[in-house]
Amino acid sequence: MGSSHQHDHLTPRYPSRFVNKSEEYGSIHWANYPTSQILVDLHHQSILVMSNILPTQRIEFDLDRNQTLPVSDQFYFPKDSLGDKTYLCGHSLGLINKNAEPYLRKQLNNWKNLAVEGHFKGDSPWIEYLAAMDTQMARIVGAKENEVGIMNSLTANIHFLFSGFYRPAGNKYKVIMEATAFSSDHYAVASHLEVRGVKPKEGIIFWHPNEATGLYEVADLRQLVSKHADELALIFVGGINYLNGQFLDISAITELAHQHDILAGFDLAHAAGNVLLDLHSWNVDFACWCTYKYLNGGPGSPGGIFIHQRHHGRQIYFKGWWGNSMENRFEMLNHFTPEKGVAGWQVSNPTILALPPLKASLEIFDQFGMNQLRNKSILLTSYLVEGLNNLNRENFVINTPVQAEMHGAMICLKLKSKSQDIFDKISTEGIITDFRSPDTIRLAPHPLYNSFEDCFRFLAAFEKALG
Ligand SMILES: Cc1ncc(COP(=O)(O)O)c(C=O)c1O
Repeated sequence: MGSSHQHDHLTPRYPSRFVNKSEEYGSIHWANYPTSQILVDLHHQSILVMSNILPTQRIEFDLDRNQTLPVSDQFYFPKDSLGDKTYLCGHSLGLINKNAEPYLRKQLNNWKNLAVEGHFKGDSPWIEYLAAMDTQMARIVGAKENEVGIMNSLTANIHFLFSGFYRPAGNKYKVIMEATAFSSDHYAVASHLEVRGVKPKEGIIFWHPNEATGLYEVADLRQLVSKHADELALIFVGGINYLNGQFLDISAITELAHQHDILAGFDLAHAAGNVLLDLHSWNVDFACWCTYKYLNGGPGSPGGIFIHQRHHGRQIYFKGWWGNSMENRFEMLNHFTPEKGVAGWQVSNPTILALPPLKASLEIFDQFGMNQLRNKSILLTSYLVEGLNNLNRENFVINTPVQAEMHGAMICLKLKSKSQDIFDKISTEGIITDFRSPDTIRLAPHPLYNSFEDCFRFLAAFEKALG
């Protein structure tokens, strides 16, 4: 847990730490309570805290201390002169874990001591460096082992996947995207239309948030698909929208696409390592994601791709030697024989020096498992949302759908005025969130390294900044 120094800066009406008062509510013990019951207790308690009924004596937050909750001390927090900052920005760049440096040093040493022989020698030969990571990654996204690969980076992977999955035929050449997809996704999709002489304006159909709910509604998508079914080749959307944090119903979208002979692909940048995914069972055709957000792989760390096994016989258009079968990869033949599964899509030999921090992080994910992490994530965001609901709401709305199953760790707040000013004030309290122009503050408690206290610190600073 970070944030030790901000105690002194909290508004005095809040206790600096707070928790269930055991004499009144009984002790909350994670192991003994079903999640829903903890939420009830937690809500009850946070309502009490936010409405200032709790006495201001220092009391501990049991849930933060509970050893069965996956709070890891294996991460470094950014610091200022007062100590650790409160880091709520794992939706943008995850923190570095304590094994990242030794793992990287080990590979630098292998390079130093073994040079080219490091490919095949040493205790972690580079030729097999990715194998365990691919397996761990497959567990995180709910895929079979040979459906997942780690390679390239996110936008590059969108291009590679589109080369194989965007195969317009006759009138069926259009692509549905969210209107507020990430900029790079717009550019990448536009590229594949343009390369075929189609103007993006003509070839991209935007799925807009519903006017009444402000959310992406599958019912609206269904109408759009019915209207354009004969023209559509692909639906390509985010698993979690980067701007409002909505967790889309990937399974329903895929099923809808398939009913109309359309393929469904997903940008899971904000979903991988954040929410429970079951890509194989959901029949998703393809997906890609970055590993520097929730997966803590480090700035620009290599990306992940998923290709459902039923597509493994599909033609690979952008080939490279590392996708060639291991059986004759080093015979340097002129004819490409793809490796089985996603491995056939690997183009180049892996960027070994970019992988150690991700390797170390995936091991931590494996230690806790996505179920436990997601449970804790839901507790953290429920607490956060409850706290936000109890603030003066005149100047902001919670833009993220508040039901737990409709969001991941990221909560997006849309300010009505003075948004930059409010963001700056929160930052000066030593709290790191991020700002998406013109009016959105995004924050995410990461279940691996954030605490309820971190959420509390944000709530206190945000209330103060709202004035
Ligand atoms: C949803 C989404 N798509 C694409 C990207 C671009 O990623 P990259 O720079 O790794 O290609 C990002 C980066 O944050 C993102 O959030």
